Amino acid sequence: MVMFFISSLPQKPWRFMTRHVAVVCFIASMVLLYCLFTLQFHTGPPDLPVPLSCDLQHRHGAHPATNNSEGDTHKCFPKKDIMFMKTHKTASSTFLNILCRFGEKHNLKFAFPDSRNDFSYPSYFHHTYVKGFKPGMCFNIICNHMRFSAAEVARVLPRDSVYITILRDPAELFESSFHYFGHLIPLTWRIPDEDKMAAFLHAPDLYFGPKSLNSFYIKNLLFFDLGQDHTLDSNDPRVDEAIRLIAERFHLVMLVEYFEESLILLKDTLCWEMADILFFKLNARQQSTVSKLSPELREKALQWNAIDWKLYKYFNRTFWEKVEAYGRKRMTKDVKELKRRNTELQQICIEGGHPVAAENIHEENMQPWQPIGEKSIMGYNLNRNIDKDYQVLCQKMLTPEIQYLTDLGVNLWLTKLWGHVRNIINW
Ligand SMILES: *[C@@H]1O[C@H](CO)[C@@H](O)[C@H](O)[C@H]1NC(C)=O
Ligand SMILES: *[C@@H]1O[C@H](CO)[C@@H](O)[C@H](O)[C@H]1NC(C)=O
Repeated sequence: MVMFFISSLPQKPWRFMTRHVAVVCFIASMVLLYCLFTLQFHTGPPDLPVPLSCDLQHRHGAHPATNNSEGDTHKCFPKKDIMFMKTHKTASSTFLNILCRFGEKHNLKFAFPDSRNDFSYPSYFHHTYVKGFKPGMCFNIICNHMRFSAAEVARVLPRDSVYITILRDPAELFESSFHYFGHLIPLTWRIPDEDKMAAFLHAPDLYFGPKSLNSFYIKNLLFFDLGQDHTLDSNDPRVDEAIRLIAERFHLVMLVEYFEESLILLKDTLCWEMADILFFKLNARQQSTVSKLSPELREKALQWNAIDWKLYKYFNRTFWEKVEAYGRKRMTKDVKELKRRNTELQQICIEGGHPVAAENIHEENMQPWQPIGEKSIMGYNLNRNIDKDYQVLCQKMLTPEIQYLTDLGVNLWLTKLWGHVRNIINW
């Protein structure tokens, strides 16, 4: 090109040169601009190809299931590509059991973390945290604790995935989190009072620092888990913008307070069957250790967690809009049926038909995970003579989360090591 350039120099080289220099400069600046432009998009890892769907049935045109409530003949395919954003202290262990059973039944591929049961929480989720991740791979379900990052999750799951999460009344959640994680939050150690939570709520600014270790557990934990800045002022426009983005990203936001209704909406959203959403309440606390918040403390807890309160109220509103669309009567009928079938299974599977304190659980592998220094989480004993047809189902429905994940092939050595340490402390 240079040769051509030189050999073709015409009579008036200077004018010619200026024009060409201008053209070259123009091209160079375009190239530079282009580089800057693409650089901006490639400062992160390069884009990874994600399959449109990882649902084999979908791709091979199997027979659709009937959407059978009210006996209608509406046809749909059960959805199998699922993102479950597992928030903390929100009955999510109970829900996880439902997902594990569904995944196992349909032979789905879970995107699991490596060596522990969360994706390096409280760091933001990153696609490389998924065990065995390779670009273009098919994962159906992701459901372990993480700090949500929409962009990173989208690199792992197929594009047709259904996004689901669950919220809980923020005052209740705060109380539960304060109790469960208290030992991990150094700033609570120096609260002198017997009733640490009440003392904290009366003067939170005296103790709280956003940089203090693990302090996110006791301020707007839901918003934090969803990947947002939990220290913002609740009136900050960024809060509303974040809520809008969450509403856009998640197809269904369930509520702990309306767990059965949530599951019915889920069944409808995912085109599942009633049998898929049967459950026993896992990881429940003994009543004696559940402190009832006084109206005054509740008010303070809501003020302190003002962003989560805003978030909850927003999704409570959209939740009931969904129920309205589903049909109130139809919902009442379906919830009644779900409860009836759960109770029926409880009688079949569970010794005595109810949960028992940890020390009364006979089998070691039925022991639930306990907070440090306590044995307040209840568990179950399997009935001795379960009908053959129900044995496997009962066993699976009652398997605590950590055991179930292990059964599904997650390597949890770090979590288990930590578990042994906790057990020693709990002695
Ligand atoms: C199930 O049927 C109802 C109408 O009876 C419909 O509104 C709903 O969207 C259907 N669910 C699916 C997953 O197709
Ligand atoms: C949630 O919505 C229901 C129905 O509109 C309402 O009765 C309830 O008070 C709401 N709860 C909260 C916490 O806003």
